[in-house]
Amino acid sequence: MIAIGSDHGGYELKCCVIEYLEKKAIEYKDFGCYDRSSCDYPDFAVKACSAIVEGICDKALLFCGTGIGISIAANKVPGIRAACCSDVFSAKFTRLHNDANVLCLGGRVVGAGLALELVETFLTTEFEGGRHSRRVEKIKEIETNSRSRQNN
Ligand code: RB5
Repeated sequence: MIAIGSDHGGYELKCCVIEYLEKKAIEYKDFGCYDRSSCDYPDFAVKACSAIVEGICDKALLFCGTGIGISIAANKVPGIRAACCSDVFSAKFTRLHNDANVLCLGGRVVGAGLALELVETFLTTEFEGGRHSRRVEKIKEIETNSRSRQNN
């Protein structure tokens, strides 16, 4: 199950991607927004990313105007590795090397054609593991360490 979320700046691109997921019979859950009214991207980042943390969804596709704000918000959720991409190479390697679980796209940056290629690449590329696992583990340690600092 793929979690989907956007603000108003990413809404139209999100609708194009939803159409693509439906054509490919890929299951998704849309956490909003549901129209073009102005809204705040962190609200949708946290809803979609929580579904990953809770095990309801495996990955998320998030959209805002640039893809940047929503990726910054997503990366604040422990367990989330969100990558804002506008080229296919990065969308591929963030899966291969970073085991990214969230792809963020800018509705005002990438066109629908490129966005669908980015989504397909992201959803079909497996994490390579090996030496990259050690690095991803170090990212997880940063989260654990900053949580224990907050509690002390
Ligand atoms: C909204 O105008 C815009 O700031 C938002 O979609 C996004 O681009 C933020 O990073």
